[in-house]
Amino acid sequence: MEAILEVKNLTKVFYKNKVPFTAVDQISFCIKKGECVAIVGESGSGKTTTAKILTQLIRPDAGNVFLDGTEYIHAKGKLRKEFYTKIQMVFQMPQDSFDPRHSLGDGIMESIRNYGMTKKEAQKRMIELLQMVELAPEYAKRYPHQVSGGQCQRAAIARALAISPKLIVCDEATSALDVTVQAQIVTLLKKLKQEMGLSLLFISHDLGVVQNLCDRVLVMYQGKIVEEGTPNCIIQNPKENYTKKLIESVFL
Ligand SMILES: Nc1ncnc2c1ncn2[C@@H]1O[C@H](COP(=O)(O)OP(=O)(O)OP(=O)(O)O)[C@@H](O)[C@H]1O
Ligand SMILES: [Mg+2]
Repeated sequence: MEAILEVKNLTKVFYKNKVPFTAVDQISFCIKKGECVAIVGESGSGKTTTAKILTQLIRPDAGNVFLDGTEYIHAKGKLRKEFYTKIQMVFQMPQDSFDPRHSLGDGIMESIRNYGMTKKEAQKRMIELLQMVELAPEYAKRYPHQVSGGQCQRAAIARALAISPKLIVCDEATSALDVTVQAQIVTLLKKLKQEMGLSLLFISHDLGVVQNLCDRVLVMYQGKIVEEGTPNCIIQNPKENYTKKLIESVFL
């Protein structure tokens, strides 16, 4: 299978009281078309920093990222903007990713209309997207505070899908939801992956969810990828001490 995303030697250094601190340390990995790759690792291991670099929210200090063969992380101007649409992010707190003053429908349409659809076309597409995430059309009129966390996360996924991105990055997208709602969102992501061939980078603390959804797992520790394999392989036969501890902490 062809790689949709290729990350090479990505590095990000932050300064804490003028002392450099390497949050992401020369990591390399790839995601194939239609594949769901998880990043797991303890708090502070560099998962969100990696996601922010891939979605162009921050710039790396070194390394390259290729989407469909094109390096975009150091791109400027028009090319840089073009890649904003190609990778979408779904965050932990769905309510935070919508403007509280706009209905969910308007929130979804806004991202479509920025890319040149008429109002009528955008409306039609928005209703289709709600259907895809199994929300009835009436949810278009609701405001973020008028829906549950799970419903809001469905709307956030609809918005992420709106402009047919090549890759969706989910950062703890199910962590703030209760267990049954979490399972419903995972089922939805699985369905979208199967039906649309969606490629996903799924950042999570939850190895159970990762085992259920993901094809491959990367384990991050202190900014580095220390282990990589299928979820079952990693869980049943962890090689690194750190991974063993992580699994013990989750399953015991
Ligand atoms: N803007 C910033 N300035 C300085 N340090 C930062 C900044 N953003 C992140 N860091 C530091 O980089 C390290 C990695 O942070 P990151 O948010 O990537 O961790 P994470 O793996 O996502 O953790 P969590 O599981 O808690 O979400 C942390 O030590 C964090 O304090
Ligand atoms: Mg994080």
